[in-house]
Amino acid sequence: MNTDQLSERLFEATLGSLDLTTIYLGEQLGLYEALHTRGALTSEESANAAGIAPRYAAEWLEQQTVTGLLEVDDPSAPAADRRYSLPADHATVLLDRDSLAYLAPLARMITAAGQQLPALMQAYRTGGGVPWSGYGPDMRTSQADMNRPWFMSALGADWFPAVPDLHARLQAGAEVADVGCGEGWSSIAIALAYPDTRVDGYDLDEASVLAARKHATDAGVAERVRFAHVDAAAVDRAGDYDVVTAFECIHDLADPVAVLGAMRRLARPDGHVIVMDERVPEQFAGAGDDVERFMYGLSMLICLPDGMSHSPSAGTGTVMRPDTLRRYAQDAGFDGIEVLPIDNELWRFYRLQPVTAATA
Ligand SMILES: C[S@@+](CC[C@H](N)C(=O)[O-])C[C@H]1O[C@@H](n2cnc3c(N)ncnc32)[C@H](O)[C@@H]1O
Repeated sequence: MNTDQLSERLFEATLGSLDLTTIYLGEQLGLYEALHTRGALTSEESANAAGIAPRYAAEWLEQQTVTGLLEVDDPSAPAADRRYSLPADHATVLLDRDSLAYLAPLARMITAAGQQLPALMQAYRTGGGVPWSGYGPDMRTSQADMNRPWFMSALGADWFPAVPDLHARLQAGAEVADVGCGEGWSSIAIALAYPDTRVDGYDLDEASVLAARKHATDAGVAERVRFAHVDAAAVDRAGDYDVVTAFECIHDLADPVAVLGAMRRLARPDGHVIVMDERVPEQFAGAGDDVERFMYGLSMLICLPDGMSHSPSAGTGTVMRPDTLRRYAQDAGFDGIEVLPIDNELWRFYRLQPVTAATA
């Protein structure tokens, strides 16, 4: 990349950053919702609908139109008469929490991380960290909202059916432990996809567990899905589970070997231990693709400092490559790892292999 290309890239990134932060305002202030539910609005109507000051509503509507997220009926009309609207395709990305295209939570995630920059700099200097709970509700809900549509639409329809013995075990009615379950959408999705399963979700973050219980009740599966506020490493239910899962959390753990060891003990001898984590390249190789860039960015701002907020910490970070997981798994008493044939751009799925008489 030459000087001009890098300077162009930084300018583009600045525009992207301005999009993200103004999308955050539009989401949090209810402006997109008002435009979506009421149709084309003037700036005064938008201000009234969202309960915000008219001057700010006018500026936001114009900025969103100039940046291409909203449309205006007649740009040459007097400012007070112009009507602004949210195109249906844009509403999908910004508001439709069931859609795989729903990416507005990323604006919340990056904004929540940005608010921690002073604490992050302190952590970088001292070797400390910023705990998951320290990022506040925007981080917790953005993580849950980003993964929710995938769990709800893909887990039982595509992902697990691609692993026939796992799918059959769940269809037959299984006991499942879901560690690091966050707001519980993976646990709920398993219960919805497999009506004869029972799921216990375990998470260290109390606010996540409280939200997960509410989501399970709202989804009508609270009878079969329970959540406990606990360090997954300390769950003492040896051999109780047919399937033990960890979705996008092993790389966050201060002590991944302790949690993987607990997962091994929780599973029955013929049980399945499944890990979903980031689909990063197998090796560091210099300049990377968009997924690796994205994961390193999240690592710098969120996952590495979260893991480093406990001491001692493995300090894994978001970019957990297969070799790292293999090492953790072997240290936790597994024989090795198998990459599962589940197709996804962002995540790689692993089954951790128990030590058998043949491999001991
Ligand atoms: C990135 S979030 C992933 C949440 C959820 N699995 C998902 O896919 O949205 C990581 C989660 O791991 C949880 N966590 C971290 N350390 C843990 C531990 N030792 N035991 C249980 N949960 C833990 C955090 O509280 C957080 O909810």
